[in-house]
Amino acid sequence: MLQQKLQLGFGGVLLMLLCIMAFQPHTTFVQSAAVMSVDLGTEWFKVGVVSPGVPMEIALNRESKRKTPAIIAFRDGVRTIGEDAQTIGIRDPTAAYGYLLDLLGKTIDNPIVDLYRKRFPYYTIVGDKERNTVVFKKGDTEEFSVEELIAQLLAKAKEYAQESTEQQITECVLTVPGYFGQAEREALLVAAQLANLKVLQLINDYAAVALNYGVFHRGEINETAQYFLFYDMGAYKTSAAVVSYQVVKDKQTKETNPVVQVLGVGYDRTLGGLEIQLRLRDYLASEFNALKKTKTDVTTSPRALAKLFKEAGRLKNVLSANNDHYAQIENLLEDHDFKLPVSREKLEELCADLWPRTTKPLEDALASSNLSLDVINQVILFGGGTRVPRVQETIKALIKQELGKNLNADESATMGAVYKAADLSSGFKVQKFIVKDAVVFPLQVAFERDPGDGGAVKHVKRVLFAQMNPYPQKKVITFNKHTDDFEFYVNYGDLERYSAAEVAALGSLNVTRVQLQQVKELLEKSKKDIVDNKGIKAYFYLDESGIFRCTGVEYVYDKQKLDEELDEDSTLAKLGSTISKLFTKEAEKTADGETQQGEQPTAEEEAPNSEESAKPKKSDEEAATGSKTEEPSTTTAEAKNETVKLVTIKTPVVHTSELKFTAPLSGAGYDSSLAKLLAINKVEEQRIRLESAFNALESHIGEVQQKLEEAPYADCATAEEKEKLLAECSKLADWLYEDVENPKPELYENKLAKLQKLSNVFLARHWEHEERPDAIKALKGMIEGAEKFMTSARNLTKETNPDKDVYTQVEIDTLNKVIDETNAWLKTEVAAQKKLSRSDDVRLTVKDITDKMSVLDREVKYLMNKIKNWKPKAKPEIKKPKETTTTAGGDEAEASSGSGNGSNAEEERTEEAATSENAEQAEAPNTAEEATVAEEDEKKEEQEKETVTATPTVDANTPHSEL
Ligand SMILES: *[C@@H]1O[C@H](CO)[C@@H](O)[C@H](O)[C@H]1NC(C)=O
Ligand SMILES: *[C@@H]1O[C@H](CO)[C@@H](O)[C@H](O)[C@H]1NC(C)=O
Ligand SMILES: *[C@@H]1O[C@H](CO)[C@@H](O)[C@H](O)[C@H]1NC(C)=O
Ligand SMILES: *[C@@H]1O[C@H](CO)[C@@H](O)[C@H](O)[C@H]1NC(C)=O
Repeated sequence: MLQQKLQLGFGGVLLMLLCIMAFQPHTTFVQSAAVMSVDLGTEWFKVGVVSPGVPMEIALNRESKRKTPAIIAFRDGVRTIGEDAQTIGIRDPTAAYGYLLDLLGKTIDNPIVDLYRKRFPYYTIVGDKERNTVVFKKGDTEEFSVEELIAQLLAKAKEYAQESTEQQITECVLTVPGYFGQAEREALLVAAQLANLKVLQLINDYAAVALNYGVFHRGEINETAQYFLFYDMGAYKTSAAVVSYQVVKDKQTKETNPVVQVLGVGYDRTLGGLEIQLRLRDYLASEFNALKKTKTDVTTSPRALAKLFKEAGRLKNVLSANNDHYAQIENLLEDHDFKLPVSREKLEELCADLWPRTTKPLEDALASSNLSLDVINQVILFGGGTRVPRVQETIKALIKQELGKNLNADESATMGAVYKAADLSSGFKVQKFIVKDAVVFPLQVAFERDPGDGGAVKHVKRVLFAQMNPYPQKKVITFNKHTDDFEFYVNYGDLERYSAAEVAALGSLNVTRVQLQQVKELLEKSKKDIVDNKGIKAYFYLDESGIFRCTGVEYVYDKQKLDEELDEDSTLAKLGSTISKLFTKEAEKTADGETQQGEQPTAEEEAPNSEESAKPKKSDEEAATGSKTEEPSTTTAEAKNETVKLVTIKTPVVHTSELKFTAPLSGAGYDSSLAKLLAINKVEEQRIRLESAFNALESHIGEVQQKLEEAPYADCATAEEKEKLLAECSKLADWLYEDVENPKPELYENKLAKLQKLSNVFLARHWEHEERPDAIKALKGMIEGAEKFMTSARNLTKETNPDKDVYTQVEIDTLNKVIDETNAWLKTEVAAQKKLSRSDDVRLTVKDITDKMSVLDREVKYLMNKIKNWKPKAKPEIKKPKETTTTAGGDEAEASSGSGNGSNAEEERTEEAATSENAEQAEAPNTAEEATVAEEDEKKEEQEKETVTATPTVDANTPHSEL
């Protein structure tokens, strides 16, 4: 239609014209560095985004809201998420799935699943055939695992983030409750993978909140540790965390950075706004049943129960601000309405047993941090549940101080997580803010040891990651008593501080089983060489996401180094130490380094004190090994014997690791889940495309019909064209509302394309007639500017001004010629076009005009650049004469504000001259460099002068100094 690439000197007007015509295609996302965070709660999810050049922000959803109900529904083959799904959940409760988060990583015998069934009795929940995990079943055809449902929520979050940033997003940081164990964390990672998201890190929600708080109070953090307590009561759970803020100098990098460290954590997995809402729901239900209006028990009707639940939620919120209110539901059951006054007092009575529970997480957090309340600077509340007055009162009574309110409570976890995401992704540079989280469930190694003398087999346990140990963290355990194959378990350790219910919610208390093989052979083979047996070492890593891994097992010993074996030795040693090398390199990255715990011959019983054994008491020995690992260099065994050289050999031990917790979705199960979700996506895409194709055709028909009746459009079509178009439109309109069996989007798309081809004839003419005056005005303004420029330029030739001979006469003449030709062309064409009727084919198109502008623009730009780079030949002065700068109008198309009014060219130029001068001053430090470039250009131009003047289109010769 219109030319795409325009390099215009006075191009503002034209750019505007172009914009009017620009077809807005479907938003296409450019590949880039944008990343997101999802604060995936039980009731809501919130999405944080950061893209280059834009501050971190919350991505809005389709309803332009900052948070979205974490509910997904399927009805009549249509998937909905968020508020729409919530609405469906009222009409058809079993079609909408919500409050899913804590079902991740649980087998159906988990008490958390029992609780879910009790709270929402209308679902059919079955165990996955292979993994016994939670699957929602509806009818004979619909079946969703929790991972699949959560994956779809995450995919929706990604969609919001992409729409908000207009960029492709693949990387994210997700928040998790701190009490998520290995099974839950792994399950969430699988869900993210199903959503085609790369998780940079899982971050505990309180750590994200604490990070966000720290980032906004960076200035107040110094060498003295300051302690804060964050208390969060959400819909589902309550948790509290004690953290310290401190500026710390890293010993390795010598950098000084603020550090937030989690020191204590407490939680109550089932205490939250949801429980209060459910208490109200059940109260309303029993009051309705007591009225005996129906024979049916109201709790047996899913719809009635869902209505009661919704009303209970509203009631709960209103009673947070008011003392009395009415619950009111129309047609609750069998056409009976329901109305009941409920006081805040009643609500508090219904939840009487909950209030004492509110302080427990706070107390647990303090206790596990070994700090007392009086060193805590501030207690900061967040989460929706803390809006309940009774919760605030209870907390206030305990801490005897004002509650911190300086936190955007609702979004701080999202914002903290997106800060982390920006930090971890390669595309952003953020100020360092180190987060050290703490182990909530201790991990220990358990194994058996046969004393070999016929005595009883000993069960040995060693603490690996003690409670409140900081992580990420690496650990090593050394076994030096085993002579044959053996196995060890990594299990959750001492969980004494947790209630039986909490321990049960963890599911399997075993995390991993590692079986070592061919140990005997390995030991036998090495026996003759061993000078110093360092034992079998197992390496462990608790990563940033709180996920535990056994990263390798090695047999380590020193052997004597013989000269003739030297070459062979180093190869062997190098091969052998591959694992430990990788390990060491990684270890260097973490500030925590690695600590080691040896299985000491003397300490055969359980480690008596977990705290003590957590300390890196053997780190000196380990450090020595570490340095040997780097390069298998020889070391002197003993000072006395100078001739004996030792080399450390590290041989990987064959072993298998087996997860002992709820199996994550993987293999064929994963593939079929992925295929299921892709199929749903495809159906959805097709449906949306069909809808929009239908709507586009329908609205174009209407538009054409309407415009053919309106004067400014109608007279752009000939009578014949008009008749044909109207006939086509009414034919299409009739067809549109006929029943089409199994319609395809292409059907409507093709019809639209055909109609557009017809309608475009008069629409394009109309557009031309509308836009032509502005285009002519713009061209005239440009000609005027060029003429003024030429007048000044005439004074800068050898003949007129020997001191400033910027231009040759030929150049001036060329410009003059272009101006004259353009003027003449415009006059002829305008006159010719005037003779035509509006329904004739257009003679003088906007494109013709913009083409002329391009030619003129190139010409002026070329001369402009010449003056920019011009320097007096004799005088060494580099700074350009002021005079020339001021006269150098009409340049800087890019800087032009595009007033849209060509007659203002004069004013514009003065402004631009000023800006270009400023720009030069700002760039002053580079003058020397520019000078050399300019000189070269000048020489080049001198040589090419002939060609230049002969051909007025000299694009290639335009120096790029201003681009
Ligand atoms: C560190 O900051 C806190 C609060 O901003 C202040 O009370 C304390 O005196 C500061 N300590 C030092 C050593 O500057
Ligand atoms: C869990 O670990 C213990 C060792 O501490 C082991 O005896 C037990 O068999 C393991 N249980 C399962 C189910 O693997
Ligand atoms: C040094 O070690 C070698 C090899 O084990 C041994 O033959 C030699 O006697 C030792 N020398 C001394 C001084 O201990
Ligand atoms: C050009 O030079 C003449 C004579 O030197 C002068 O009168 C005239 O004002 C100058 N024009 C411009 C635009 O500088």
